[in-house]
Amino acid sequence: MKVQDRKTHGEHLDYKQVSKRERSHTRAKKETLFDLLKKDHESVMDIFDQIDEEESTESLRGLFSQLQDELDEHMQLEEQFFYPALKENDDSREKILESYEQHQVVKTVLSQMQGVSPDDERWVAKIKVLSELVNQHMGEEEKEVFKMAKRLIEKEKLREIVGEIEKAKRELIWH
Ligand SMILES: [Fe+2]
Ligand SMILES: [Fe+2]
Repeated sequence: MKVQDRKTHGEHLDYKQVSKRERSHTRAKKETLFDLLKKDHESVMDIFDQIDEEESTESLRGLFSQLQDELDEHMQLEEQFFYPALKENDDSREKILESYEQHQVVKTVLSQMQGVSPDDERWVAKIKVLSELVNQHMGEEEKEVFKMAKRLIEKEKLREIVGEIEKAKRELIWH
């Protein structure tokens, strides 16, 4: 029950909480793009951990739908605001094209899982493959892509991307 009651991005749902968080941001050090994306990564990996420990089919369904929402949103934000800045640069173009392809594979597995129930052994096999794919992709981003981005994208542009992602996240929550 507890799992099913959890809403996607539950911690952001309350308007007061969000505005309080924003107020504290103006005082505290601004979050970097890499902090922001890593937080998403941790949240996604946390759902995989919960799936790993969960046995109830209904709860697994709820967790999977949360996983799908978070992954879709995260990949969309990266593709819309972060990756283009690296695609334009000759030094990072090859690597970032690989990242787009990894997203495509993740999306394919997610869509293949649509019609399969968590109590089906194929679902169990697919979630394992998905977890490995996502883990590898996020690991590569944190180790290689973020390093490239720190070197190749100007500080001002990085801050601009943070602003765009934060704005998009707020709009996704309230609409
Ligand atoms: Fe990614
Ligand atoms: Fe990512």
